[in-house]
Amino acid sequence: MSILHTEAVDRILKLTAPESDAVREEMEARADRERFPTVGPEVGAFLRLCVRMRGVSSAIEFGSGFGYSAYWMAPAIGSDGRIVLTEFDADELEQARDYFERGGLEDRATFEHGDALEIVERYDGPFDLVLLDHETSRYVEGFEAVRGKLSENAVVIADNVLHTGAVRPDDLVDALEGESRVSESERSTSKHPSLEGAVAYLEHVRSDPDFETAVVPLGDGLVVSVRL
Ligand SMILES: C[S@@+](CC[C@H](N)C(=O)[O-])C[C@H]1O[C@@H](n2cnc3c(N)ncnc32)[C@H](O)[C@@H]1O
Repeated sequence: MSILHTEAVDRILKLTAPESDAVREEMEARADRERFPTVGPEVGAFLRLCVRMRGVSSAIEFGSGFGYSAYWMAPAIGSDGRIVLTEFDADELEQARDYFERGGLEDRATFEHGDALEIVERYDGPFDLVLLDHETSRYVEGFEAVRGKLSENAVVIADNVLHTGAVRPDDLVDALEGESRVSESERSTSKHPSLEGAVAYLEHVRSDPDFETAVVPLGDGLVVSVRL
């Protein structure tokens, strides 16, 4: 359950979620079993809505794991569209391919093994939607790597911004208000790269005049930036 809402809200989200399918249920069971940090169904449903609302036909993910978030978006992208999955871990990526094949969605997916920041260099875009779900400490880098490859109506969504690893929303409040509980020595040895990454990313996109940005407290916290 997300720490960002109550148990009742969690239950409501589950009761009102879009219909599942056998492959997605299998992915969810696996994430639970292996404690793998997928975006979860409520963020999955939100991502799919974004795809539909912005008429997305081209998307890229930074950090796809075994393909759960991409699997949510792919049906709405349509068979003429494309979603690029990127993943460091070759086994996870092979699992993603297998899930997509079994779900009949492989025609619209490209599976790229390696560092998302290097992979994106090989693409011209334009991308209508970008999901940043790799190392939080590299979100700014990821945003900048894809910024020049975005379509006019693009949306960039970053996950894990309010709650990531040991980082809790309270820590982020302190950091944003300049009263970080993280000591200087911890900062200098970068024990909190996720917190620093989340703060740096929020400041970066909020100060970019070409984007409008809002924090959406869903899952582990999303930062949604729409190109103006
Ligand atoms: C939070 S999981 C992704 C979950 C996935 N988006 C989902 O919701 O199902 C993060 C994944 O990103 C991968 N990763 C981290 N940094 C990466 C990078 N720079 N390039 C590619 N993959 C990366 C990790 O191996 C891990 O599998």
